[in-house]
Amino acid sequence: MKVMLSTTVNGEQVQEAVLPRTSLADFLREDLGLTGTHLGCEMGACGACLVLMDGVPVHACLVLAVQAEGSTIETIEGLNETGAAADLQARFHDRNALQCGFCTNGMLMSAQALLEANPAPTRDEIRDALSGNYCRCTGYEAIVDAIDTTARDRAARTEAAK
Ligand code: FES
Ligand code: FES
Repeated sequence: MKVMLSTTVNGEQVQEAVLPRTSLADFLREDLGLTGTHLGCEMGACGACLVLMDGVPVHACLVLAVQAEGSTIETIEGLNETGAAADLQARFHDRNALQCGFCTNGMLMSAQALLEANPAPTRDEIRDALSGNYCRCTGYEAIVDAIDTTARDRAARTEAAK
């Protein structure tokens, strides 16, 4: 039997009937068509499915959709719409920090959450924040470079605005 789920996804109020066993990833992808949330391992290991729930990265494959009741979810589509991570995306591009791109959306969600919580992370802290994100083609150095550069750019813009 389905239950009603009421949540906010990328700034829009959503009310849908879902099966209690439906994962948040399946709800986002299949019910809402937000396929930027990728599914790799479906067991919490690869990080391809990361989304922000109330600002905190969560594995959408491990969270039930009903657990999102009353919460605020942000996916890569939301970041695209607001442009909140446009600079981060540009640095990933500049630094060749992606190849096939399968891991990239999850990487961006982790990176965005990290920079919100810690605007000046060390490279070790960046690596730590990405410890649950697997990339099978790029190698992590370029990804860490992209995030490090974005943090420095954001700090410089904040300083210039003072
Ligand atoms: S698909 Fe969720 S962690 Fe891999
Ligand atoms: S760019 Fe292909 S898995 Fe990361």
